[in-house]
Amino acid sequence: MPPKVLLQLDTDAVFASSFDAIVAADAGAEHVLQYAGVTPENVTPLVHGAMFTRGGKDLASTAIFIGGSDVTAAERVFEQVRACFFGPVRVSVMLDANGCNTTAAAAVVAAAKHVTLSGAAVAVLAGTGPVGRRVAEMCAIEGAEVKLASRSLEKAMQAAKEVNERLAGSSVRPSVRGCQVNRGGDSEDLFRSCDAVIACGAAGVVLVDAQSLAYAPDSLRVAIDLNAVPPLGIGGISATDKAAEKLGRIVYGAIGVGGLKMKIHRRAIQEAFESNDKLLDVAEIFRLAKIVASE
Ligand SMILES: NC(=O)c1ccc[n+]([C@@H]2O[C@H](COP(=O)([O-])OP(=O)(O)OC[C@H]3O[C@@H](n4cnc5c(N)ncnc54)[C@H](OP(=O)(O)O)[C@@H]3O)[C@@H](O)[C@H]2O)c1
Repeated sequence: MPPKVLLQLDTDAVFASSFDAIVAADAGAEHVLQYAGVTPENVTPLVHGAMFTRGGKDLASTAIFIGGSDVTAAERVFEQVRACFFGPVRVSVMLDANGCNTTAAAAVVAAAKHVTLSGAAVAVLAGTGPVGRRVAEMCAIEGAEVKLASRSLEKAMQAAKEVNERLAGSSVRPSVRGCQVNRGGDSEDLFRSCDAVIACGAAGVVLVDAQSLAYAPDSLRVAIDLNAVPPLGIGGISATDKAAEKLGRIVYGAIGVGGLKMKIHRRAIQEAFESNDKLLDVAEIFRLAKIVASE
């Protein structure tokens, strides 16, 4: 087989992510070609270069990674990359802009270690962001009833609608509903009948204080916070917590799920080189995450 070449397409203007390049190398990519400032308008020649240089089975040795700090911009590039392919003339593509898919997958499989998600109720705090939407979708894929919370009911309803629309085309019953939460306010109501909470708020934003977590109903078994920048998203949880028992729950902080996230990222890159037709976005990366977590 020819050497494994990864095209790293990054939507950030100046530098393609060094983090993503190093993970790719650690996952077995022998050459990482980095491009910054990638847009739907300029990506086509890069994709053609990947599609038309190798043929047949050798196409599996070329893959594309789409990253950058703007997840929406990366999603648009992903659509354009897919539109370039025809028939068997294609290469595998992975989307993980800002770590959105791998981070969400790590959080959901961590929660699933302690709660059977099928039939469970999961509160996804700040579920309107790129990570939160993916957490909501992955929980719904597992059969959970998801409460997608935001400071704005309108934003929550819109995000929930978009996630449910994505799921409607699959075999999954759409089960994400939006709800509003006021900081420090109605968390008791939000947590009622919930089995797990996954906080996906912006870096340095407190969503729930320690007291609210302590007084949450006993049904709340797991609390996961993905914000690693102090102050953290859930009071009483440390970034390094990993299945720690605190405030009557099993808790994880952002660094606590970070090791699993890295394994999932590497596995997804490896998977991209297994054939030339993988599309590694939410569902596929979540499928891989469950395999990684079970090993
Ligand atoms: N460990 C890792 O490798 C890793 C990787 C990626 C991300 N992360 C972390 O995961 C978290 C989610 O990432 P993201 O990219 O989805 O986050 P984001 O887009 O920056 O923010 C997510 C949501 O937070 C809420 N929010 C923003 N500012 C707020 C404020 N001042 N007060 C209250 N809520 C506020 C917003 O929801 P509403 O407006 O709807 O309330 C927003 O949609 C972040 O903390 C990020 O650092 C970790």
